[in-house]
Amino acid sequence: MSRHRVVYLPGDGIGPEVAAAAREVVDASGMEIDWVDQEMGLVAFEKCGDALPREVIDAITECGVALKGPTTTPIGRGHVSANVRLRKELELFANVRPVKTVPGLETSHGPIDLVIVRENTESLYAGLENEVAPGVVTSIKVITDRASRRIARFAFEYAQRWGRKTVTAVHKANIMKKADGLFLRCAQEEAAKVEGKVAFNDVLVDALCMHLVTRPSRYDVLLLENLYGDIVSDLAAGLIGGLGLAPGGNYGEKGAVFEAIHGSAPDIAGKGIANPIAMILSAAMMCHHLGDPGRYRRIRRGVAAVTRERKDALTPDLGGTGTTASLTKAIIEEVQRQPLEV
Ligand code: NAI
Repeated sequence: MSRHRVVYLPGDGIGPEVAAAAREVVDASGMEIDWVDQEMGLVAFEKCGDALPREVIDAITECGVALKGPTTTPIGRGHVSANVRLRKELELFANVRPVKTVPGLETSHGPIDLVIVRENTESLYAGLENEVAPGVVTSIKVITDRASRRIARFAFEYAQRWGRKTVTAVHKANIMKKADGLFLRCAQEEAAKVEGKVAFNDVLVDALCMHLVTRPSRYDVLLLENLYGDIVSDLAAGLIGGLGLAPGGNYGEKGAVFEAIHGSAPDIAGKGIANPIAMILSAAMMCHHLGDPGRYRRIRRGVAAVTRERKDALTPDLGGTGTTASLTKAIIEEVQRQPLEV
């Protein structure tokens, strides 16, 4: 098996705690990785005045893959989000967030198994904000044919690769007739090209939110522009038990960056109680991306064995009394017990 070089970005707040846990689990799974340590986020900003130093972009471009902890972005002031910049710089246009009921942690929302495919480079995240007059601010939503088609094609390809049946485009084209109208039209046109292979439908984003809470099993792959994708991901994570359980990966032509949905959680940073599962499952996605589905399954099964049978190890967000360290240790033990199917 070949060794891989992966850029390691611990991030801010709980980032270093959960990213280190994920790195340990990947190493324990038998995946052979040479980690390339770099820093981005507030930690980098405070050291060198740039939250996304050039070396980070260069290292990811060279290695092709990164494992990233969450980074802090000041609210309503301060530096531009390093995440937004990273996704733009590397054209990480597709953000994939699988949301699946965790064995042993079933919630009242019933079995959930959906995948959020979020466009990662435009919409209101274009950062085009302007104070046109005192007390009047505009924020421009950018939707392009090129990016909408690209993410739609990605969603249909993803659906076919992973044996998914239906892609649902999410929009508000009744109100934003031009912007969301374009996004929807591109999805419809790309859907026509895979007719008979993947089913397609669409839903208004507000109706989707209600359906997700009342009957989430009706959805399979959700295709969303940037802002809706961000918001709906947190909602969906809540349905399976919280942000500590939902992983993610950002994919583009120049590389892929794997990170949990959640942020740097300053309210619990440094307390040793952050749930590392979302980061560990993100790392499992990374193993799959690196061409090792065996390690992907091994890590997922190890996590499932803990959530099913070792409630004592779970962190407080899952109702347990464990710590990041005890949960990571239990997961490593269970991962190493899983047979490796190649
Ligand atoms: P957050 O996701 O950091 O936290 C929301 C709530 O969920 C908090 O109560 C937190 O304690 C809890 N939580 C999150 N992850 C958890 C985990 N692994 N285990 C246990 N509890 C967990 O969102 P918030 O507070 O809105 O944002 C904090 C910072 O994170 C902000 O600066 C924001 O910009 C940044 N952020 C960064 C992201 C990234 O780097 N990809 C994504 C989202 C937010």
